[in-house]
Amino acid sequence: IEPRWEAEADLVVVGTGVAGLTAAVDAHALGLRVLVVTKATAVDGNTRWAQGGVAVVLPGEHDEGDTVRHHVQDTLTAGAGLCEEAAVAAILADGPAAVTRLRRFGAVFDAGSNGRLARTREGGHSAFRVVHAGGDATGAEVERALLAAAKDNRITMLDNHIAVEALRTPHGEVSGLLVLDGRGVPGVLRAPAVLLATGGMGQMYQATSNPEVATADGLALALRAGAVVSDLEFVQFHPTVLYTGAEARGRCPLVTEAVRGEGAILVDAFGERVMLGVHPLADLAPRDVVSAAITRRMVETGTDHVFLDATHLDGEAFRKRFPTVHAACAAVGVDPAVDPIPVAPAAHFSCGGVVSTVDGRTQVTGLYAAGEVARTGLHGANRLASNSLLEGLVVGARAARAVAADLASGLLGDPALAESLPPLAAPVAERDVLQRTMSRHAAIGRNLDGLGAAAQLIDHATVVRPLRTRQAVEDAALTMAAGILLTVAAHRTESRGCHVRTDYPERNDIAWGRSVSVRLDVAGQ
Ligand code: SIN
Repeated sequence: IEPRWEAEADLVVVGTGVAGLTAAVDAHALGLRVLVVTKATAVDGNTRWAQGGVAVVLPGEHDEGDTVRHHVQDTLTAGAGLCEEAAVAAILADGPAAVTRLRRFGAVFDAGSNGRLARTREGGHSAFRVVHAGGDATGAEVERALLAAAKDNRITMLDNHIAVEALRTPHGEVSGLLVLDGRGVPGVLRAPAVLLATGGMGQMYQATSNPEVATADGLALALRAGAVVSDLEFVQFHPTVLYTGAEARGRCPLVTEAVRGEGAILVDAFGERVMLGVHPLADLAPRDVVSAAITRRMVETGTDHVFLDATHLDGEAFRKRFPTVHAACAAVGVDPAVDPIPVAPAAHFSCGGVVSTVDGRTQVTGLYAAGEVARTGLHGANRLASNSLLEGLVVGARAARAVAADLASGLLGDPALAESLPPLAAPVAERDVLQRTMSRHAAIGRNLDGLGAAAQLIDHATVVRPLRTRQAVEDAALTMAAGILLTVAAHRTESRGCHVRTDYPERNDIAWGRSVSVRLDVAGQ
């Protein structure tokens, strides 16, 4: 690929969700020249679809003895032994300041009684600490406020530009990006620091709560640049995505856990409670426990969905509190006031990702990561509900400070030394085959035979293609991420968090109480 245009900055941010925009706005405030790129339009990412809220213990807002320490404990419990406690403590401790600053940018959270913010509860939380906006439209409000801040600060944004490859200096530092513009014309962005805030990989599965842009791009780019990824086997399935038929594809509407936080219960096709006797928190058990229990019940009853029953709640109050969920239900003829809502688990969040510090530094100089693409140690084997917007806010801000500090101390590479790029091609699997295969063999309930069969099926549907279009870049990223996921999922011979093995149903702390990391054999390292 011969680049035909160039631009430069101190920091290139890839992605326009909560982590990317926070980092961009903060880096700009620290005096850095910031360039933001997104492969679609700024609002097409996952952030705006987030419903439940932001989990945070705000001083003066929480009056029931809740503390950051309790929030840390809930996060560790949900993470099923694989969180890094120091990372959890550091990120959650920064939460209150991050939310306060977001409110200063104009984000409006829902008010409760006594002049305090309204708070809800979700799976795995021991207290009502999830603040929300627009009822169940928290992500949309976060995205709106951050985009407005980016606009007010005149931060340059390139829409419809997909990052293909990191540029590297002869010393191996990342010093920019090769990108394709909307017409497929290659160009080069030179910068001593590149922050990946590209989100997750939900499109690896047939049914997902994620929009079509969630295709593992940042993960693949980081791997090809020599970064390490961990915990990729832990794909979180959200327990309650609106069920619209067995043939549902692509982004399916979420039914936020907060609906259960406000009293709705899960029942099977025969009206029997799903979560009674499964976990002491019943319907508000951590998400991995609920998704696995629903999956088991669907197998036992020979069905492909269960129901979320909110019919005992006040119908009008439900409509006001959950306008997004209500509208999605109405669109398929379901009235939550009288009909139990049909739901099923669907791919939702990648707990693993590019190994990064809580300041967003990866193991490759000049390459940073924040948000879902990063693996900071906050989520372990299963993310606690509503910790992800918080992580984006906190690590986005910390990464901006880290880039400024690294630039000031002369640690980063010289973008002028970035080497010319070899012609780029990569294995690309047919997307439909990949999605069907991963849903069948690598969702909740995996085993060695299925994982092996999946690897073969995907291999047979794979050819090497030049990375000259957005579709090819996305499919190559999904193919690489799926291959690694299948390998590490086969390797981990236990069940833990979101990784449920039917052939190894028990958790094995002695053999597997650690993360599995992967690094590609990149030339020159
Ligand atoms: C939800 O609202 O249930 C999703 C929140 C999250 O994924 O953290």
